[in-house]
Amino acid sequence: MYRTNTCGELRLSNINQKVVLCGWVQSIRKLGKMVFVDLRDRYGIIQLVFSQNKDSKLYNRASELGREWVIQTEGKVAKRSNKNFDILTGDIEIIVSEFNVLNPSILPPFTIEENTDGGNDLRMKYRYLDLRRTSIRSNLELRHKIAFETRCYLNKHEFIEVETPILIKSTPEGARDFLVPSRFNKREFYALPQSPQLFKQLLMIAGFDRYYQIAKCFRDEDLRTDRQPEFTQIDCEMSFVNQDDILNIFEDLIKYLFKTIKGLIVNDFQRLSYCEAIRLYGSDSPDIRFEMKLIEIKDLTTGKGFIPFDKSEYVGAICADGCSFYTNKQIDEIATIINCSQIENKKLIYVRYNLDGSLKSSVDKFYSSKDLLKWVDRIGAKRGDLVLILFGETKKTQLQLGTLRLQIGTKLGMRNKNHFKCLWVVDFPLLEYDNELNCYFPNHHPFTSPKNEDIQLLQTNPKIVRANAYDLVINGIEIGGGSIRIHDCELQEKILTILGFSKKNIQSEFGFLINAFKYGAPPHGGIAFGLDRLVAVFSESNSIRDCIAFPKNNSGRDVMIGAPSIVN
Ligand code: AMO
Repeated sequence: MYRTNTCGELRLSNINQKVVLCGWVQSIRKLGKMVFVDLRDRYGIIQLVFSQNKDSKLYNRASELGREWVIQTEGKVAKRSNKNFDILTGDIEIIVSEFNVLNPSILPPFTIEENTDGGNDLRMKYRYLDLRRTSIRSNLELRHKIAFETRCYLNKHEFIEVETPILIKSTPEGARDFLVPSRFNKREFYALPQSPQLFKQLLMIAGFDRYYQIAKCFRDEDLRTDRQPEFTQIDCEMSFVNQDDILNIFEDLIKYLFKTIKGLIVNDFQRLSYCEAIRLYGSDSPDIRFEMKLIEIKDLTTGKGFIPFDKSEYVGAICADGCSFYTNKQIDEIATIINCSQIENKKLIYVRYNLDGSLKSSVDKFYSSKDLLKWVDRIGAKRGDLVLILFGETKKTQLQLGTLRLQIGTKLGMRNKNHFKCLWVVDFPLLEYDNELNCYFPNHHPFTSPKNEDIQLLQTNPKIVRANAYDLVINGIEIGGGSIRIHDCELQEKILTILGFSKKNIQSEFGFLINAFKYGAPPHGGIAFGLDRLVAVFSESNSIRDCIAFPKNNSGRDVMIGAPSIVN
């Protein structure tokens, strides 16, 4: 038997027990005639003690151990005189009677500790060492638990897990495809799935009724802290459901995960339309942990001789609580956050509502204190607050204010990572118009259904058609997205035509789907959650990279194995 116990499980109740443990040498400390070794495995850390007085040979051998050596050790559990409250085994130690070196280690390139001295690149290159660190390992344990509990919940609700293929034809989700050449079919390529979207719809047509899959997806897109080229979705689809059915069942899934994994009861999720989200928060994935809503003040600002406001479609403001003391330099710095230029260019306007009740703004020349008082009243600012105002084209300005809002929320400590607020954003526009390319793109994907009451607008004003599409947002991060699908071949063809596909292309790209719709497709809809993002939110991590065993770096490289690489 290699070991009787693991390094994390022994307690005072085990005193005097003889044990055999295996693990990695985390640290070695010599103190007088004693050597203390911290031995680590997946389950925890335990202190080993070697005394020169008791066994000088053993003491000498222990003195020569190095960091990350793998050893097997035998000894007796003893009470520790100076307890270590940082570890669960901190009440005890092992008085070692024998040990074997199972494998020595060369000196690791960084310390395997929480506050490691290893930079990002180094840790990625030696990811197997990085994974020995508690925080990364516990993120992966959490990931395992989330996947496990998700399966439990979905299995209980009659969902069947079905695997769909990886070598497929392009699934349009808005990113570029990764392609794989086919040896048997010269000059032809498979595409890796951006999602299992089409297959899950075909499974509904096949009568599976409720499907799920914890599925790998591949998207060749620009990387960010919440984007990897290869990521995992909890992908789900259901038949004979409307939007509310889907929101309810998956809201319960997320509540179940919060309860079972974090022991938290979360309130019913707020539901906000896309238009309201943009109007109130300047974002389609708003962080509602804090208020600081956008307030429009165009009507209060017009006609006073300040031409930029007069000429703007929109003038909007946010209120930074207690920030009236911000200097011009600090406000300038805020302006650079949104890349919007300096106050001197009169792009970011401020009003300081000083503690003594006086008002000072960067547009004092045009507006009296009485005018400014009307603004701060509307905005709900109090003495001591700073009001920041942007103006311009409506949506663009709202999005900029949204960016400011987040930055100021962060600055003011309003975005506590262990405080969770979940939200459904619904009624997304079906299509987005690209002014440069002069064409429509699907806002979600081309299989999303328009709202029944908006279908007639497809002919006259496609831009304002709303979709049966929804996103789950937690703490300002888009965690999931889905929709009720089109299940009618004519409507599907119509949407693809609006998206610029010719009849011939529709047939060659999506003929199989359109055809399948002709064989009794049930009404259906679904959703996919980003598992990596969900784990990152639950573990309060800054990046999904910390929640993936072997992630890619910012340029899509796995620097450990050296991929991508030139192929022989
Ligand atoms: P969507 O494209 O919105 O929808 O993706 C669903 C969720 O997947 C996660 N996600 C990502 N996570 C990490 N890295 C990426 N590059 C990445 N891209 C997306 C996000 C996102 O909310 N087929 C549809 C779902 C459906 O309609 O049922 C789809 O894939 O958390």
